[in-house]
Amino acid sequence: MPDPLLSAAASGVTEPDPVDRLILDEAAELGVVDAPLAVVGDATGALAVAAAERFDLDTVRTFHDAVSEERASDDAVRASFRSLKAVRFGLEPALFDGVRLVLLRLPKSLAELDEIARLVAAHAHPEVRIVAGGRIKHMSRGMNETLERSFESVTASLGRQKSRVLHASAPRAELRGAASAYPIVQSSDELGFSIASHGGAFAGPRLDLGTRELLAALRDLPAGELPETGLAVDLGCGTGVLAVAVARQRPELEVIASDRSWAAVSSARETVRIAGVEDRVEVRREDAGSSIETGSVDVLLLNPPFHDRHEVVEDMAHPLFEQAARMLKPGASMLTVFNSGLAHRAALERIVGPSTQISRGAKFTVVLSRRRG
Ligand SMILES: C[S@@+](CC[C@H](N)C(=O)[O-])C[C@H]1O[C@@H](n2cnc3c(N)ncnc32)[C@H](O)[C@@H]1O
Repeated sequence: MPDPLLSAAASGVTEPDPVDRLILDEAAELGVVDAPLAVVGDATGALAVAAAERFDLDTVRTFHDAVSEERASDDAVRASFRSLKAVRFGLEPALFDGVRLVLLRLPKSLAELDEIARLVAAHAHPEVRIVAGGRIKHMSRGMNETLERSFESVTASLGRQKSRVLHASAPRAELRGAASAYPIVQSSDELGFSIASHGGAFAGPRLDLGTRELLAALRDLPAGELPETGLAVDLGCGTGVLAVAVARQRPELEVIASDRSWAAVSSARETVRIAGVEDRVEVRREDAGSSIETGSVDVLLLNPPFHDRHEVVEDMAHPLFEQAARMLKPGASMLTVFNSGLAHRAALERIVGPSTQISRGAKFTVVLSRRRG
């Protein structure tokens, strides 16, 4: 007889992990399961599929921040042994409209949790229950406090297999039907424009210190070091600060701001719109700039990610370096900022081409690379 686990792996079925299983068991205890159900932050699709199986649902609503998670979830849904339909939403009122149960993998960012909780409190069924789970080592008291800002009742489950669930119910009356507080818009005298930020966007509505170093290098580069015309790309654009800054500094450039995160591109679109540069800055949601043509880019700006949710990962930026090398024209320029402790200059030299240090502080280093021809 075939091993069920082996055949599950071969068929591409993703198994729920201990956090998913605890969320499902705690949700089942509530006895409120009824369509529509919203599943949020389920990176693999395993939670949505297992919830549909467990509660006998044909449709679930889903939100994934990263496009890569959407793909994983689509694969899991296709591989599931039922005709499940996962309807994908942005982090918007329609995701929660009338929903009675929200299954949530707790996000790392409290601002993202706050944005989700407020939307649920404003738009879900008044008797909605949120069942929010995570690994205990990644959970903090701040998560309870954040949920308490939107719900009268927040309680914690017992721990099981290093996992725990928070239950939230009774949306605060003053939030019912309220317009979203996100994106938050904050003006910056230093930048001369405003930053718009959804909860999950890197650095929120503030200027990140590394981004500031890259902008200083961009401003101080001798004339002729960077092209003034052609196509510039802000790869991993976050709230769009680099894209807007370069568009304003160099009015002859066309700019693409690209990120895989819903929170990032939704923020960047708003930052671009408020700055009035939407005629020259296009914002795209995709993994690693995948839609950008090979050999088409004259200038590339990159402040790459350096931790995977909770850990610093040295080679995490390498796939972005490889994609940058693919899209740059031979001889074109790339400015990268990174934590000074990381060996990124050598990696850039190897993957992109000759790379010169422009500045180095205790925290951040900026490197200018030229795409080898
Ligand atoms: C350190 S933040 C920098 C954000 C922005 N450029 C800034 O300087 O404020 C890195 C960004 O890269 C994005 N990112 C990470 N991996 C990515 C990938 N594979 N494809 C596209 N974007 C990615 C993240 O979503 C995040 O917005």
